[in-house]
Amino acid sequence: MDKQNQEAKLQLSYIEKCASLIMEKYNRPLRLRIQNEGCQMNSLQTETVAGMALRMGCVRVEKEEDADLVIYNTCTVRENANQKIYGHLGFLKSIKKKRPDMKIVLFGCMMQEAHVVEKIRSDYPFVDLVFGTHNIHKFPELFYHVLMTDSQIIDIWQDSSEIVEGLPADRKYSFKTGVNIMFGCNNFCSYCIVPYVRGREKSREPQAIIREIEELVQEGVTEVMLLGQNVNSYGKTLDTPVTFADLLRQVDKIPGLRRIRFMTSHPKDLSDDLIRAMAECKKVCHHLHLPVQSGSSRILKQMNRRYDKDHYLTLVQKIREAIPDISLTTDIIVGFPGETEEDFLETMDVVEKSDYDTAFTFIYSKRTGTPAAKMEDQVPADVIKDRFDRLLRLVQEKGRQNSCRFTGMVQEVLVEDENREPGVLTGRTEHNLLVHFKGPRELIGQYVPVKLDSCKGFYYFGSLQQEEK
Ligand code: 5AD
Ligand code: SF4
Repeated sequence: MDKQNQEAKLQLSYIEKCASLIMEKYNRPLRLRIQNEGCQMNSLQTETVAGMALRMGCVRVEKEEDADLVIYNTCTVRENANQKIYGHLGFLKSIKKKRPDMKIVLFGCMMQEAHVVEKIRSDYPFVDLVFGTHNIHKFPELFYHVLMTDSQIIDIWQDSSEIVEGLPADRKYSFKTGVNIMFGCNNFCSYCIVPYVRGREKSREPQAIIREIEELVQEGVTEVMLLGQNVNSYGKTLDTPVTFADLLRQVDKIPGLRRIRFMTSHPKDLSDDLIRAMAECKKVCHHLHLPVQSGSSRILKQMNRRYDKDHYLTLVQKIREAIPDISLTTDIIVGFPGETEEDFLETMDVVEKSDYDTAFTFIYSKRTGTPAAKMEDQVPADVIKDRFDRLLRLVQEKGRQNSCRFTGMVQEVLVEDENREPGVLTGRTEHNLLVHFKGPRELIGQYVPVKLDSCKGFYYFGSLQQEEK
C-alpha cells in the first residue's frame, strides 16, 4: 500500500512541475478537450486523467478547434471504435498545422496493440504522447517530459503489478460515480481483445475500496457503480481472498450511501451467495447486467464462455425467484464465426425467455490476436445484417413490454439532469429506467418520489409526488 501511495505522491509532484512549466511556456492555463471512447471503466479512467490535467491548471473547452491539449481515451473492443480514432487524428492534424503548439495525447486499450503504436509512430508523428492501460497514473510524469522535450513520447507497459491509489479525478456528477474494484480479465472469451489489452485480473483490497467510497460519500456521492470486467471473480487473487458477495455486504453498510450498482457479471461465476447478497442488501439496486453473448450452447463453447444455454436460463430463473422485480440487461454478439441459422434461433429463444429490459446487440468484430480471428466460417455480412435486424426488432419489442411493467407506480428517482427543455428533469429508478418529469433543477442529485404515468418504450414520463414526511 505504501509503495502505491509513494507512486501517487510522485505523480502529484509532477502535476506541480507541469503546472509551473505550463505557466512558463504558455503564460496561461492550457485549454483541455478530453474525449472518452468505450466502456464505463474507460470513462472512469478518463475522469482520472482529466482530474490530473485540471490540477495542472488546465481548463475545459468543448471543441478540439479551441483546445491546446487534446486527449483521447481509446477503445478497441470492436473495429469501428478503432477507425473512429484514425478519423479524428486526420482532423487534428489539420488543426495542429495551424497551431503547432497544440499537444495531442492518446491512451487506453487501443494503444496496447503493437500494430497501432507502429502506425502512430510512422504515420502520425504529430501525436505527442501515447500510453496504454497499465501506466495511466504516469500521465503527469510523461506529460512533463513532453513539455520539456517537445518530441513524441510513447510508453506502453505489458502489464502492471501495482494499483495506484489516491489520484485526483474530475467527476461528471457530484452525486454518483463509478468505483473500480478490479482491473484486467482472465477469461479469454475467444472473440475478445480485453484480456490482451487490459492484462491479468487484479483486485483492489476491500479496505481501499471501502475507504474510497466513504470519502466519496463525504463529498456528496450517494450512488456508486462498482466496476470490473468480471466482478463475480472479484477478490479471488487477493492475499486474503474475499468474495464479491461479501464486498457488497460491506459496501452496503457504509452510512450515507443510498444506491449500489455493479458491472459486469459473468454468468459462469455468478454464485448463489451473490444472488442472496443482492436480495438482502437494501442499497443494492435490483438491476443485473448479465451478458449472454449467444443462446447457442455450441457457439458458447466456441466462445469459451464456459456455460451453456440451460445454465444461463436456470440462472435467470433463480435470480427472478430471489428478486422478482429485477431488471435484467444483456450483451449479445451476432455473427460469431460458424453461427448457423439454428444457433441464431437459440439466441432469439433466450431473448424470448429472459425478459430483458434492454439488450445491447453487437455485430461480431474480428480482433487480430484473438482465437476467433483465426476461425474459419466467418459469417457473410448480408447474413449477419439480416440476423442483426431480426434480433434488434425482438429486443426492442420485448424491451418495451418489460420496461413498461412499472407504469402507474410511484418510484424513487435519483434526479440526474435538467433536459434541454428547461423545467423538465431526468432521473433513474433503481431499475436503471429513465424518467422525465417536471420539477425545479434544485432537485438534481436528490431522491424524489415520481409517479410513472406513461411508458414510452425505454423511458417514462412521470409526475413528481409530494414527499411524505
Ligand atoms: N465483436 C463484437 N462484440 C464484442 N464484444 C466484445 N468483443 C467483441 C467483438 N470482438 C461485446 C461483448 C461484450 C461487450 C462489452 O462488447 O458483447 O460484452
Ligand atoms: Fe472497455 Fe474493453 Fe473497450 Fe477497453 S476494449 S475500453 S476494456 S470495452
